[in-house]
Amino acid sequence: MATFSDQQLVAAAIAASQHAYIPYSRYAVGAALLASDGTLYTGCNVESASFSPTICAERTALVKAVSEGQREFTAVAVATRDAGSPCGVCRQLLYEFSPSLTVILTDLDGNIHLTTMLDELLPHGFGPVNMKE
Ligand code: THU
Repeated sequence: MATFSDQQLVAAAIAASQHAYIPYSRYAVGAALLASDGTLYTGCNVESASFSPTICAERTALVKAVSEGQREFTAVAVATRDAGSPCGVCRQLLYEFSPSLTVILTDLDGNIHLTTMLDELLPHGFGPVNMKE
């Protein structure tokens, strides 16, 4: 199984941010999401002229992974110019699969500003367990 260091995840997230399609915000985001089997998925934000179809980098990576059969993740690195934190929608969709995911927030120079867990970013989250009868 491939293993990735935090710095390798950070490098992959920064590389992904270079593909961001951001004509409106100019705010590039890259994400590198590590599945439990060691496969790495990357994503960037993709914006739309009508704004609401815009998808964040984290969800791009997650949807790529889930659509290839992945269901469990161990870590995600997110790269932005200011080491910004995942939005609420991304937190919620990541929580669906891996509430205790490690979240690494980095700037585009590779400086890690915060390493935390998804359930710290989304405490008392609503998830699949709530949907069990
Ligand atoms: N964005 C992300 O890609 N991830 C987040 O978690 C926060 C926001 C994107 C969406 C939009 O393209 C740009 O950043 C500005 O909001």
